[in-house]
Amino acid sequence: KTSGVQKVFWLEDMDNILNELILLAEHVYVNDNENDRYTSPINSASKRAIKTLQERYPTHSFKRAQPIIKQLVMIKSQQEIALMEQAVEITDKAFKRVLQFVKPDVWEYEIEAEITHEFLRNRATGHAYEPIVGSGHNACVLHYIENKGQCKDGDLILMDFGAEYANYAADLTRTIPVSGRFTPRQKDVYNAVLHVKDEATKMLRPGITLSDYQKEVGKIMEEQLIGLKLLDRTDVKNQNPKAPLYRQYFMHGTSHHIGLDVHDLSDRYTTLKTGMVLTCEPGIYIQKESIGIRIENDIVVTDSEPIDLMKNLNTPESVEAIESWMNQ
Ligand code: GLY
Ligand code: MN
Ligand code: MN
Repeated sequence: KTSGVQKVFWLEDMDNILNELILLAEHVYVNDNENDRYTSPINSASKRAIKTLQERYPTHSFKRAQPIIKQLVMIKSQQEIALMEQAVEITDKAFKRVLQFVKPDVWEYEIEAEITHEFLRNRATGHAYEPIVGSGHNACVLHYIENKGQCKDGDLILMDFGAEYANYAADLTRTIPVSGRFTPRQKDVYNAVLHVKDEATKMLRPGITLSDYQKEVGKIMEEQLIGLKLLDRTDVKNQNPKAPLYRQYFMHGTSHHIGLDVHDLSDRYTTLKTGMVLTCEPGIYIQKESIGIRIENDIVVTDSEPIDLMKNLNTPESVEAIESWMNQ
């Protein structure tokens, strides 16, 4: 009754029901997980089920459902966006809680615990992915999830976390100073990342492919890295375009689709379309200065201006807003 599905059968009846239906059909669309960047050694349940079907009905024509499903999943309905807004809202509350909690010598796992606490009391199902809380040099370790270090006065803390609400994910990253005040150098690098994020967000418009987008973001990042004296303009001019120098400091993609999964099912060759939701998350990681800064918001592609789900909530983002929240 709740689901609106009118006929429900038990799985044990599957073979008989399928047999009746499949003989009326010529093509059978089967869904297997297709990822062009990863080959799995696992003979998954879906692969086994497809093989069994092909053996049982060898004269049917089998077709791939995944390309169709990807196109459908990438476009979010208004209801889906509303659920993502709830996930973002809970994530925003957790960040604001953390801003008032952090002080020198706090442990990274204590921050994680504050986030989890705020998630659960707001009816999130939990974390949409393993949260990252990395201070000092740990902020430069891209997939740091140990969260076991102590946050030292003068260091930055990079926090990448998101609530899951009604199966939909939020994905937020903020970088804050342990002491509540950025040093001048930290502020410069922070503002460089923020500038790239703001410029990149504006490009999340219908018609662009993610690979053209990444190239454009790379150019904006280059300018910032030159400004920070991390790259030299002449070196950049002479660089191998296939291995741009900015990648020494910004070694990951800027955006991914998000929805039911934090890295949602997608076709990376499809141009952006209205209704898609992507993250925007540039970063600058300077190992020798133990500075790792990433800023990440979730963005809805529309016919006009992109909608930033975090900006809607005033999730602290500028140096001034973060310092003000930390020193209340
Ligand atoms: N936290 C995973 C990501 O930002 O892609
Ligand atoms: Mn993230
Ligand atoms: Mn992300």
